[in-house]
Amino acid sequence: MNLGRLNHVGLAVPDLDAARAFWRETMGATELCEPFDMPEQGVRVCFVDTPNGGTQVELLAPLSGDSPIGGFLSKNPAGGQHHLCFEVPDIAAARSEFDGMGKRILGPTRIGAHGTPIFFVHPKDMGGILTEIMETPR
Ligand code: CO
Repeated sequence: MNLGRLNHVGLAVPDLDAARAFWRETMGATELCEPFDMPEQGVRVCFVDTPNGGTQVELLAPLSGDSPIGGFLSKNPAGGQHHLCFEVPDIAAARSEFDGMGKRILGPTRIGAHGTPIFFVHPKDMGGILTEIMETPR
């Protein structure tokens, strides 16, 4: 694996406005993007920057109860860590490597919230961590 930087930590949140207020007021974040919908994933998303181009926090709120984030929140009503996202230089190469190692890839490679191709690897094959693999933005 050609492992790149930890791009973001995905957090499931039951209330996006409350989570944005928490990251501003309690955690001191100053750079939060405007929330936007990704209807095909059933989520509303807001990225929180950490200083100096550091790893972001991705706040994920469900657009409906039957979305994957809705399902996560039904088991974890207060929210919590949902996934880690690592960058790779070449998404197709990374996908065939995971595939070749017998890791279960969840769905097709698709365009993620940063506008670059992503895919997810099953937590049961990744030490319990749902893992998003993302091509490094150019
Ligand atoms: Co993500």
